[in-house]
Amino acid sequence: MTRKYNFSAGPAMLPAEVLERAQQEMSDWHGTGMSVMEMSHRGKDYMSIAEQAEADLREVMAIPDNYKVLFLQGGASSQFAMVPMNLLCSQNKLHADYLNTGAWSKKAIAEAGKYGDINVVASSEDTNFTTIPDFDTWNLNANAAYMHYTPNETIGGVEFHSIPDVGDVPLVADMSSTILSRPIDVSKFGIIYAGAQKNIGPAGLTLVIIRDDLIGEVMTDTPAMFDYAIHAKSDSMYNTPPTYAWYLSGLVFQWIKEKGGLAAMAEISQRKSQKLYDAIDGSDFYNSPVPTEFRSWMNVPFTLANADLDASFLEQAAQHNLVTLKGHRSVGGMRASIYNAMPEEGVDALVSFMQEFEKSNA
Ligand SMILES: Cc1ncc(COP(=O)(O)O)c(C=O)c1O
Repeated sequence: MTRKYNFSAGPAMLPAEVLERAQQEMSDWHGTGMSVMEMSHRGKDYMSIAEQAEADLREVMAIPDNYKVLFLQGGASSQFAMVPMNLLCSQNKLHADYLNTGAWSKKAIAEAGKYGDINVVASSEDTNFTTIPDFDTWNLNANAAYMHYTPNETIGGVEFHSIPDVGDVPLVADMSSTILSRPIDVSKFGIIYAGAQKNIGPAGLTLVIIRDDLIGEVMTDTPAMFDYAIHAKSDSMYNTPPTYAWYLSGLVFQWIKEKGGLAAMAEISQRKSQKLYDAIDGSDFYNSPVPTEFRSWMNVPFTLANADLDASFLEQAAQHNLVTLKGHRSVGGMRASIYNAMPEEGVDALVSFMQEFEKSNA
């Protein structure tokens, strides 16, 4: 079997070592005579898997003790609603700040607007979401319940390379496509959330890392499944959690530890993305829509000077085992998503193919 280099934005590649281990443990986990999928989430075997995964994540991300880690369902899209439902009533704060840097910010803003007053502090829509608005222009409200942003816009390929300082206002980050790609200071955030299917594990699991003091009050009539306090109190076992996705994510956390942790992930990610950007910048045949300082380490959109060649680029790339490179319909061209599990050889193979394709089509 040949594993393809899958450049999908998500669900994305998982480390081969993790898949092999899961395969070995598939039908009989550690002599229990059953698959992790078949275990009671309240039994001691599964509890040990769940606790180990959380402990490993806490170690990898250096999560302080005053933060809860929740293993939920519903995807990052559910968090677009859950964040305002839980935070827009605390301390009588009924409004929140949002930064608009792309398609995912916009969705978060639209959903939050159902629950309170949303102030868009700045927007990069005028650059077609290829930049991040200059911090000095943000219209921040010191009294906001929280300030929400998207550190990596998966579609536009725009990424923050530092954490904005919004003072005492809790910072809420949709880290779906950048979590675990570099060390971050968790204490700078009120809430970090992420859908798992890019850098964590399989779809179905949603990770929420939340500071203790933000858990508590919730809007009247909030469904139990949308109440952080209920999930926190029951250690994410209020109902049946996504047990297999949680287990598999735990294997990914161990894999990250074995590879040298987030410092190693950052070094490799920066190097992989730089190779691709160098290939794009070194040619008139390819173009990156994003200015250098805003470029993502995880999602690299690029266009061909002649869009008529897009279809044959994709077809020939697939013949080289390089798949799912088609850009998002709103940006066009190509997008190479190169999360932690994309081997560096995959990026090298893509760069070689791009050069070859240019030679025969320029
Ligand atoms: C930055 C970002 N936020 C949110 C989402 C939506 O995630 P989910 O499908 O888990 O709801 C995505 C999915 O691609 C994303 O990239």
